[in-house]
Amino acid sequence: MVRIGVLTGGGDCPGLNAVIRAVVRRGIDDHGHEIVGFKDGWRGPIEGAHEELSVESTRGILPRGGTILGSSRTNPFKRDDGPDAIRATLESLSLDGLIAIGGDGSLRIACGLAEKGIPIIGVPKTIDNDLAATVASFGFDTAVTTATDAIDKLHSTAESHERVMVVELMGRYCGWIALSAGIAGSADVILLPEIPYRIEKVCEKIMAREASGRHFSMVVCAEGAMPVGGEMTLLEKPEPGREARLGGVADKVARAIEKRTGKETRSLVLGHLQRGGMPTAFDRMLSLRFGAAAVRLAEEGRWGTMVAYDPPDMAAVPLAEAVASLKTVPVDCDTVRTARELGISFGD
Ligand code: F6P
Repeated sequence: MVRIGVLTGGGDCPGLNAVIRAVVRRGIDDHGHEIVGFKDGWRGPIEGAHEELSVESTRGILPRGGTILGSSRTNPFKRDDGPDAIRATLESLSLDGLIAIGGDGSLRIACGLAEKGIPIIGVPKTIDNDLAATVASFGFDTAVTTATDAIDKLHSTAESHERVMVVELMGRYCGWIALSAGIAGSADVILLPEIPYRIEKVCEKIMAREASGRHFSMVVCAEGAMPVGGEMTLLEKPEPGREARLGGVADKVARAIEKRTGKETRSLVLGHLQRGGMPTAFDRMLSLRFGAAAVRLAEEGRWGTMVAYDPPDMAAVPLAEAVASLKTVPVDCDTVRTARELGISFGD
């Protein structure tokens, strides 16, 4: 029997509840383990905010977006007593270890705590699909589906009004969402953080369409997209020690397009819509498998690892390896090549 704590940290995403459900079902049913849920990411174990989870208390959560445990970007290493407080909470609740469901930031914290001897297993969560150690993370498929649906809808209004639409999708350093939704939604231009753009090239594509009788265009850009020699567009100056909030690149690109081409251009930021709602069937499957695999690793005492999807199986990778590098879009990968072959411009 093991007694495990579980928390969800960082930005939320569809599928978190499905992981929690799998941890509880795989843990409690037939196996006799005990599962404790911590509130609001790392704040929970720091402050001891918790509740015992049961099959009953987690009934019906599989399709629900968000997280029943709450989430936050609390960083225990920003507090002098953070790691010690977590250790003390685990001891006082007689926990064998923690399952931390989080993205890049939360897993870095998990890695730092594991290095201090705190028993942790990570589960990769990120709509950005930017964790290199796993082929996929849950939330991404749902975000791409939501974004593709939005691009489809924007297409019809762009065509009716003969406008250019510029839609900004999430993706700070990695443009996977923009790349995937852009291709699936048949964008004309895709701007990624990995491929700096030239506005002249973007306009060239739009005007070439114009010349061929296509009087509307769809530009999809990741929030972290930047021009050659330029920088990311920030919504506001970052607070000390916090990640800068990005936003506004679509508006900037739209204004430049309108000025250069004379074509009426509108912009839209899809924002947190991409992180909300029900997970797709793919994300539900992945989440459930991640949750079950995490409990298996806990039973085996394989603390300090992260569950990774290594199709068709699940694998365990050391947390340090899991956070060592971000999975950016390789500029010469087959997906980018295919997009180019389909006539999509990257503005380069
Ligand atoms: O990491 C996930 C993510 O959705 C990024 O794509 C985005 O830049 C960021 O979180 C937004 O964070 P917040 O919800 O804190 O504004």
